[in-house]
Amino acid sequence: MGPSDLREILKYSDKPEITSLAGGLPAPEVMPMDEYRRAFEWVLETDGDRALQYGPAEGYEPLRAWVAERMGHRGIPCTAEGVRIVNGSQQALDLLGRLLLNPGDVVIVENPTYIGALQAFTPYQPRYAVVPMDDDGMQVDALEAILAQDRQGAGRVKFIYAQPNFQNPTGRTLSAERRVRLAQLASTYGVPVVEDDPYGELRYEGAHLPTIKSFDTEGNVIYLGTFSKILAPGFRLGWVVASKPLLDMLTEAKRAADFNTASAPQIATYKVVEDGFVDRHIEVIRNVYRARRDALVEAIGEHFPLGVASTRPHGGMFVWAEMPGPVNAREMLMEALEQQVAFVPGVGFHPDGTGANTMRLNFSNVTPEKLRNAARILGGVIQHRLDLLAPTV
Ligand SMILES: Cc1ncc(COP(=O)(O)O)c(C=O)c1O
Repeated sequence: MGPSDLREILKYSDKPEITSLAGGLPAPEVMPMDEYRRAFEWVLETDGDRALQYGPAEGYEPLRAWVAERMGHRGIPCTAEGVRIVNGSQQALDLLGRLLLNPGDVVIVENPTYIGALQAFTPYQPRYAVVPMDDDGMQVDALEAILAQDRQGAGRVKFIYAQPNFQNPTGRTLSAERRVRLAQLASTYGVPVVEDDPYGELRYEGAHLPTIKSFDTEGNVIYLGTFSKILAPGFRLGWVVASKPLLDMLTEAKRAADFNTASAPQIATYKVVEDGFVDRHIEVIRNVYRARRDALVEAIGEHFPLGVASTRPHGGMFVWAEMPGPVNAREMLMEALEQQVAFVPGVGFHPDGTGANTMRLNFSNVTPEKLRNAARILGGVIQHRLDLLAPTV
């Protein structure tokens, strides 16, 4: 199941009668509509010339300074100079592919990984080396084995793509010990890490873990952040923190791609965030999403047959489930859609083509009541598939 299959499901699951756990969208009810309305009015009245004009490729300076200060709280000391605004972190993935990959190069990814990253890198024709995961995230011993083998061989590994917090699709979080190890491996083998962190702020329990970049002493880690999940994805605002040489190359590539990220949304976003609104707002989002996660996880516990392994994410937007071996999630989907429930089969998140028995369930954009009902239906579908597969006596 590739990206185009995914688009097909998303199209189908848009129908109002379908309860869709297939998407990955933030909930519209927690988007700061009034704040943006006021901010845009203010921007057009007081700074209209700048808002409607081309802007610097690096991004709007006050917004970069605001991001830099926030990064400081996450163990990444930097100034506005060290931050570049991009058109969503998705653009950063594309630009990094463009800058760092030649055909036949190797990107190391978690297995499973974010489909959008594969879509961004694949046009540059890399090969993927996959690292298995467990409940503590990417298995760093397996990662080291790949790096060691590459060093003895062709030296084609160009970077490691990692999502340490509440990973899309599994919801898993990389343990603190493994973060240290990952940063050390990056430095020992001289291979950059792309730390993609769109969900880090959406933590529903426990304490924040240090970023991988906070252990980076040599400028090996490229950190990607975004406003998509803490404010709204529609303005397409993300950022990159990395070493100066890489940022300079990235800015040149960005200039070639689109000159600059749109000016008005950057200035309005700065106006929205400058007075501390964002932390109050993240608290609102956390409360809504936490209740949704709890509803889904509890209902899975109640309704899914024994033998299904599922994650209980401490944050983010996704739960991952692994059915007993022979159950095929794509076949399950056809049956679930007949009962008006959609989800994403997990195979497309696996560059090695495994994972036919896995699925991703989104909870951020579905009400608790609908999540409970959907889990009940999915539990029934899994049981039915198991019954069909059971040897008849
Ligand atoms: C892991 C991951 N990285 C990047 C993105 C892209 O986010 P943005 O809206 O900042 O482009 C997403 C969006 O869902 C994501 O899940």
